[in-house]
Amino acid sequence: MAFTIAVAGKGGTGKTTISALIIKYLLEKKMTPILAVDADANSNLNEVLGVKVVDSIGGVREEITKNVSSIPSGMSKDAYLELKIQEILVEASGFDLLTMGRPEGPGCYCYVNNILRRYMDILAKNYRYVIMDNEAGMEHLSRRTTYGVERLLLISDTSPRGIWAAARIRDLVKELELKVEETYLIINRVPKEGLSPILKEEIDKLNLNLLGTLPLDEQILEMDLKKRPILELPGDSCAFRAISGLIEKLNL
Ligand SMILES: Nc1ncnc2c1ncn2[C@@H]1O[C@H](COP(=O)(O)OP(=O)(O)O)[C@@H](O)[C@H]1O
Ligand SMILES: [Mg+2]
Repeated sequence: MAFTIAVAGKGGTGKTTISALIIKYLLEKKMTPILAVDADANSNLNEVLGVKVVDSIGGVREEITKNVSSIPSGMSKDAYLELKIQEILVEASGFDLLTMGRPEGPGCYCYVNNILRRYMDILAKNYRYVIMDNEAGMEHLSRRTTYGVERLLLISDTSPRGIWAAARIRDLVKELELKVEETYLIINRVPKEGLSPILKEEIDKLNLNLLGTLPLDEQILEMDLKKRPILELPGDSCAFRAISGLIEKLNL
């Protein structure tokens, strides 16, 4: 079974960027094969990884709902879905990407969450690492499957709101009784002056387990402007060097 690292936090804090930086690290260390899971409805993990998405679980769901006859006769809906999920996996060098996508209509998130939850057990067997880029909700993970998360990384920016959101997700994970081995906080886009005492106090007060910080990286801003994937970030990028140090503390 794969070793899973899930990344979560408030929108815009750097979850997708950090997921890509982790994947870049694992690729360079040849810690493969990797499954990248874009579990954010506003998917854009593919962009920072530099790959094209053909379809998503949400898309497959739409197709099956609109056209039930697309399911071959004699095949169960579940078996067909499993086949389709294999088909929408984007294969790249050292990693595959699965995109959850944006489903349409009420109740669809729930359905897509259920599918992802059900198939993670099956899928994870084929990989050494799973890196999951999540939106704030964690409902696609479940205590009811054997599938669990080894490391949950909560990402915050240098705002108290970011820290509060991280604490809320940590509490939600506990409430849902999700299987998470270890949870850490990473503060992203930290200026040269370092963390403010107020922020440190807030982190302590909320009893968050700070793994470390990532600096504001001009090279990431530049890649962003040029619409270049994070995987192409030069090895001397300060954020990449910092994430490498943090990953080494995670005992993968
Ligand atoms: N360490 C960093 N230094 C500079 N820019 C960053 C850094 N981390 C993230 N960014 C930028 O911040 C923005 C939001 O990051 P993103 O990873 O998309 O956040 P999220 O996935 O949490 O919404 C992006 O434009 C990204 O390039
Ligand atoms: Mg994102």
